Amino acid sequence: MRCLAMLPIHLSLTVVVLLQSLERAAATSVPYLNPGFEFSYIIPNQTVPLPVTSQCERIYLSWSRTNNETGPAPVAPYFMQVYSSTSSVPYVIGAGFGPSKAWDVPFSPNTQFQICMFDSNGASGGCQTTYSVVPDANSTSPSCQMPPAPAALSVSATVPNGAMFQNSQINQCETLSVTPQSGSPPYTLTVAPVAHPPFNITSKTMDTISWQVALPVGFKFFLSLSSADGQMWANGPMSVGGLGGNDCFAPGTM
Ligand SMILES: *[C@@H]1O[C@H](CO)[C@@H](O)[C@H](O)[C@H]1NC(C)=O
Ligand SMILES: *[C@@H]1O[C@H](CO)[C@@H](O)[C@H](O)[C@H]1NC(C)=O
Ligand SMILES: *[C@@H]1O[C@H](CO)[C@@H](O)[C@H](O)[C@H]1NC(C)=O
Ligand SMILES: *[C@@H]1O[C@H](CO)[C@@H](O)[C@H](O)[C@H]1NC(C)=O
Repeated sequence: MRCLAMLPIHLSLTVVVLLQSLERAAATSVPYLNPGFEFSYIIPNQTVPLPVTSQCERIYLSWSRTNNETGPAPVAPYFMQVYSSTSSVPYVIGAGFGPSKAWDVPFSPNTQFQICMFDSNGASGGCQTTYSVVPDANSTSPSCQMPPAPAALSVSATVPNGAMFQNSQINQCETLSVTPQSGSPPYTLTVAPVAHPPFNITSKTMDTISWQVALPVGFKFFLSLSSADGQMWANGPMSVGGLGGNDCFAPGTM
């Protein structure tokens, strides 16, 4: 747990710089969604934030636009897009007009989840770090409700060495592929790296969508695909290995 807690701090410092220079240097790479706001959540009585919640624990999200956000000005209502290690769809949860929302983490123990936020126009509030769910120390059957799941989008997804699994590893600068097999276009593929703004890639056809993993070794990320008619698919957390090339990064950034 101590390692998990340290990871995002270390990464967020190096990667923000890396990805900003990437965006400037390589016009062909997919730019991340420049955040229009930022959010965080508070777990009462934690002096040092630990990325752990118990099942049905209530967390408090709060958000605002600060001088650090230069993306589109956010327009309410807001929503959370929640990825989990035990589901093949993301959960889309209304967060209203803000600037805060209480949410009971519904996932079973041993699930990992990650929350990203968007506004009504799709402007990004970024993604937070991945949290792990542990049993509620006071109850063997804690009570809270799973959010409704969206209609599942059928997808064929691969990494270079075969089929993509929930926790597949892919090397930096290698290419993953996602092919929609249901729903209607346009499709939006969202790459949601831990503790970082997401990337969106839109496709107007049912053809395979490829993404070269422009994230350095050690990163974790979730993927989601949504269709114009509201079907969704998600996968993760996947991790980035170090055996790939450097060619997808701007020179001098590694
Ligand atoms: C949180 O801290 C306050 C003040 O120290 C204390 O009164 C309260 O019982 C604590 N709550 C929990 C859930 O531990
Ligand atoms: C902007 O980011 C810096 C570095 O992370 C932080 O120190 C500062 O407090 C932030 N400013 C605002 C207004 O949140
Ligand atoms: C990015 O993708 C998310 C879904 O994953 C969507 O809600 C949002 O509207 C998209 N934003 C943009 C700017 O495409
Ligand atoms: C368990 O219950 C005790 C007493 O009500 C409370 O102080 C403690 O914070 C609870 N623990 C959790 C994990 O909810």
